[in-house]
Amino acid sequence: MQLIKFETHDQASAWIADQIISSLIKNPNLILCMASGDTPAKVCEHLVSKLIEGKTDYSKLFFLGLDEWYGIGPEDTGSCAFSFYQRLINPLGLQKDRYHFFNALSDDPASECKKMDDLIEEKGGIDFMLVGVGMNGHIGFNEPGTPFDIKSHIIDLDEITINVGQKYFSEAKKLEKGITIGLGHLLNSKTVIVQANGIKKAEIINRTVNDDINESLPSSVIRLHTNGFLVLDHAAASLIEE
Ligand code: F6R
Repeated sequence: MQLIKFETHDQASAWIADQIISSLIKNPNLILCMASGDTPAKVCEHLVSKLIEGKTDYSKLFFLGLDEWYGIGPEDTGSCAFSFYQRLINPLGLQKDRYHFFNALSDDPASECKKMDDLIEEKGGIDFMLVGVGMNGHIGFNEPGTPFDIKSHIIDLDEITINVGQKYFSEAKKLEKGITIGLGHLLNSKTVIVQANGIKKAEIINRTVNDDINESLPSSVIRLHTNGFLVLDHAAASLIEE
């Protein structure tokens, strides 16, 4: 894993967007998987404007949504799908055959997970993953204790995730389970960026870098990835003990 620090979140986000674009230029069939949440919002802004202004061909790009609150539909402004549509799918005009999200309203989550795993396999694996870090070290909805080799799964959310997750919703929401691409897919992905910004992430980032690599700290998985990057702004990097 490589640790890369930028002064600002905007600089970090612009750099990440450039990495995605150069991967796409090298491989026009890029399979890109991204988290929602606050962290990658600026990457999406840069990505959309750079792709459009640079006239980059993204007609073969395929996008995967990393995760979803189980039981929450895409029309809910707090859902992951809603933000994927707002940030990428609609601005880039991606057609239905160019992206896939979990259907979190399905009453058969196991088959949703199989659908995702089969699709990833059929596409030859994920090329580029961009994920955030939860306050408890989760990645996607791979909560503390999740095996590093797990594929897509449904999971009971950690209390911290349930509480922090309220920030995405306009009114109090009963959040219980998440459906997510697993850490096994992350380890198999050709490139992985874990991004974090802000002082509130500084402590979990220090643990990500310095604690033992352990399933009780999902974000530590990035240190096992030979083409993994931890990309931080100054504040998120500020508590890293050298
Ligand atoms: C959301 C997701 C989560 C977030 C994490 C950080 O799709 O996968 O794991 O990346 O909770 O959230 P933010 O970016 O809002 O701090």
